[in-house]
Formats: sequence, C-alpha cells, structure tokens
Amino acid sequence: MPTTPSDPRFLDTLPDDFLWGTATASYQIEGAVHEDGRSPSIWDTFSHTPGKVANGDTGDVACDHYHRWPEDLRLMRELGVDAYRFSLAWPRVVPGGDGPVNKAGLDFYDRLTDALLEAGVTPFPTLYHWDLPQVLQDRGGWPARETAEHFAAYASAVAERLGDRVQHWATLNEPLCSAWIGHYEGKMAPGITDIQQAVNASYHLHLGHGLAVAAIRAAVPRAQVGIVNNLAHCEAATDRPEDLAAARRMDGHINRWWMDPLHGRGYPQDMLDLYGAQLPEKPGDLDTIAAPLDWLGLNYYFRNVVVDDPDGPFPRARGAEPADARRTAMGWEVHAPGLTRTLRRMSEDYGARRIHVTENGSAYPDVIGPDGQIDDPERVRYLEEHLAACADAVAQGVPLAGYFAWSLLDNFEWAYGYDKRFGLVHVDYETQKRTVKGSGRRYADIIRRHRDRAPRAA
Ligand code: FCB
Repeated sequence: MPTTPSDPRFLDTLPDDFLWGTATASYQIEGAVHEDGRSPSIWDTFSHTPGKVANGDTGDVACDHYHRWPEDLRLMRELGVDAYRFSLAWPRVVPGGDGPVNKAGLDFYDRLTDALLEAGVTPFPTLYHWDLPQVLQDRGGWPARETAEHFAAYASAVAERLGDRVQHWATLNEPLCSAWIGHYEGKMAPGITDIQQAVNASYHLHLGHGLAVAAIRAAVPRAQVGIVNNLAHCEAATDRPEDLAAARRMDGHINRWWMDPLHGRGYPQDMLDLYGAQLPEKPGDLDTIAAPLDWLGLNYYFRNVVVDDPDGPFPRARGAEPADARRTAMGWEVHAPGLTRTLRRMSEDYGARRIHVTENGSAYPDVIGPDGQIDDPERVRYLEEHLAACADAVAQGVPLAGYFAWSLLDNFEWAYGYDKRFGLVHVDYETQKRTVKGSGRRYADIIRRHRDRAPRAA
C-alpha cells in the first residue's frame, strides 16, 4: 500500500539516523562577487550578458550570504536540520583557475565549517556547482582536458584545508546541466550550442570527478565521497514503438550517460551513435572515472513522460505529461512516485550502497500575508509527498540515508533569475530580510517528530 503523508509510517519508516538537511549553492546565494580576491565565474559573465537571464538578474548580491551567513546558520538551527549541503566557489578559492590558492577565499569556507560544526550541523560541501572560473573558460572550459586536472588540484587544496573537520564530500553537482544545458542547449553558462563540445564537457566533468575523488581520498583518509546527479524516471506517453524508443533515448540522455561511466560500464553506445560524437578518451580514463564512491546524491524534481520527436533536439524526445498534471511555477510536473522509482533504479540497477536525496523542492509564487507570514500549502504538500516517496523507497529496501530540501533560502534560480522561489525561508531582496515560510515550519515539525519518536526495536 502506498504511504500517504498522514500515514504514521511516513515518519516511522525512515531510519532513526536519517539525516535531515537543506541545500544551497555558492553563486545562487553568496553575492560579494568582487570581494576578498574572488575572480569572475562563467555565471558572472553569462548573467551580465543581455538576454540570458530573466529580468537581467545577476548573482552580484543574491542573498548576501557571504556577509549574512551567521544569520543563515541561525535559521538552520531554527529548522533543526542535521546537515547543510553548500558549494564552494572555485573562483574564490583559486581565482586564477589553477595556481595559487587565495587564502581569504578559503578562509570563508573554513569559518563556515567551524560554525556549522559548533552548531551541530554536519557540513556536506559540493566542490563544483557550476561556477567555473571564467579564466578557465577562456582557456577552453570543460571541453578542454586541462580543466579536469585543474579541478583535481582545486579539490586537493580544499580537502587539505577542511579535511580535518569535513568528512562528507561531493565532487560535482548535476554534470548533466553543466554539459547539456551549458554546452548543447546554451541556456546556462557558458552558453555554447554544440553537441561535440557538450560530449567533451561531460567527459571531462566525469574525468575531473574521478581525479578529484583520488585527490580527496589522498588528503582525507576518512572521507566519504560522492557525486550529485539529477536523474529521473522516464516513461513513454503511449505504447507506440516510436514513443517507447523515445523513452529509452531520454533515459540514455539523462540517466545512463551519467551513471554508466561512474559504474565502470563506459558510455552508452546507443547514445554515442545518436549524438554522432566522439569521446576525447585516453587510456585509463574510464577507470579513473569509475573510482569507487561511498555514496550517490540524487537531485529529483520531476519525472519524464515523453513522445518521439524525430526532428527535435537530442535526445529526439519531447515532454508529454498528462494534460491534468499538477505543475510548479517552473512548469515541472509534480510526481512523487517518480522519486521512489528513481531511487530504486539507483539501488537495483547500479547497486548504490548509500544514497542521499541531495536536492528536492518546488517553486511557487509566494504571497506575503497581512501579518508578514508566508503560507505555502502547495510547497508543504510537495515536501510531504516526496518525503512519503522517500519512505516508500526505504520500505522497498533502498539504502536512503538523508534528504536535503532545496532550498534553505529563496535564491538566484539561474536563467530564471529571482522570480522562482524555492526557499523554505523567504528572502526579501530589497531588505535581505529572511522569513521562515509555512513549509519551513512544517519541515522543522517533521524533523522534530522524527527525532522525538521512540526508536524502533532492534
Ligand atoms: C537544480 C540545481 C539547483 C537549483 C534547482 C532548482 O538543477 O542543482 O541549483 O537550481 O535545480
């Protein structure tokens, strides 16, 4: 029987040591783009290019988290989270892309780490959440092999500095978006539209990941290293053979292309044939890419229901969700069972031994009430349905260890700018005032109830 939000099993099924977290990313919240030696990233360039981001929004100030992080940490304590997933800005830490480490930049994350630990919140840093130093883009970016090597050197510098206190590490966030949206669709930085460059970028992102895993392990013997992918269950809208084939292609594009190489299976040949592209492969790379991991991160927002689209862009399949689908402000279908299915796929097909939902959340147009409060019942419902889907996965044997709500704060939603609000906490961008939304209060309540319930008998 499926679990429902009101079913007590929803909380009872999640393991006693389940990790409750929230997530953010550097460029989306930090601001302070010119401070303490930070160099521009590809997102500074992209957001300052007219027409690329809604309303001409940029991350120049964002949530001003660089200065207001103590307040944001207090908000985490108010929510009662166990863990915080954040990302480090490479251009703060190594402004030249390669070469000297900028002490002031790394100091910021050092202070944050200490304060998190002091507050009893476990740091879960991600080394790359899309803000490549522009200087490296100028030298070829991810389509160039040297970027992977520089990424490993940067990872090593961070791990050496924080590794005495940080155990949990993620290398990349959603390489799919960096590669496909950044280099094929051109809707994210660096805004390139070339399938061969996208293939090269995805390959070097993977290579950088593998090299970084080794670098982190060398610096931090007790490290728990993972990678964060956005995967999604794919299905055909009809039983037509063309649509079934389209669903298989979509699965190759968003799931197999990203998971197979990490698991020693190489890149799916059917996708290479479809893209008509070559891999920039050198001997030994595939072993580096398949470095054993301690955990896998899943960012889940929606499923993919598709039909054949022979003349459309790769993977020649287009979305065809049911007409009556519930949708968020992003236009994304709300479909929690897809989360359970995706988690099962990771565990059953790829043998994941430990999984964290590293992002999950929803954007809705929030309304501030006369009392200054934000009631967001749709976001509450989304949260509860997806937590129930997590519980279903656990009940079905998936080794799910944690859930990180996206996002702690409303923030800079990439090409959508500040219009799309995903936060459990509302941010007034004029005043930088933070207000916990109804969903934030509900999340705190869920965490408290889970913690307070009697531990299950062994
Ligand atoms: C994910 C990104 C994250 C955020 C959410 C809504 O793809 O990792 O930064 O933008 O989507």
